[in-house]
Amino acid sequence: MLSSSREDGCVSREQIGNTSDVPEGTVRVVECANGRSLALANVEGELYAIDNVCTHDAGPLGEGELFQGHVICPRHGAAFDPKTGKVLTLPAVHDVASFEVTVERDEVYIDCRSGEGA
Ligand code: FES
Repeated sequence: MLSSSREDGCVSREQIGNTSDVPEGTVRVVECANGRSLALANVEGELYAIDNVCTHDAGPLGEGELFQGHVICPRHGAAFDPKTGKVLTLPAVHDVASFEVTVERDEVYIDCRSGEGA
């Protein structure tokens, strides 16, 4: 799945896959080289990455669904904004980290460090 990584100054971005891996309206689990698991969501053709671990009880957000542009946790249904990681509904009350995503041609890159400290 992971094919390359590159250091651009303080930015460390990794090729996570291709745009065809995450069709519009879906969310998938992807993994950084450092082992951090992320949920990669395609909202109306734009890709966004947030932590894969729900802040309520560690549900895998990337195994949930996208509903009205929000990532829905598959365990108890908390909603998160994939653009910011902000929690939108109970039972979760804490945000998750969000990560910078860029697309070049069909290749998807994520700065796996950009969410650290969040
Ligand atoms: S684990 Fe996500 S809502 Fe409970």
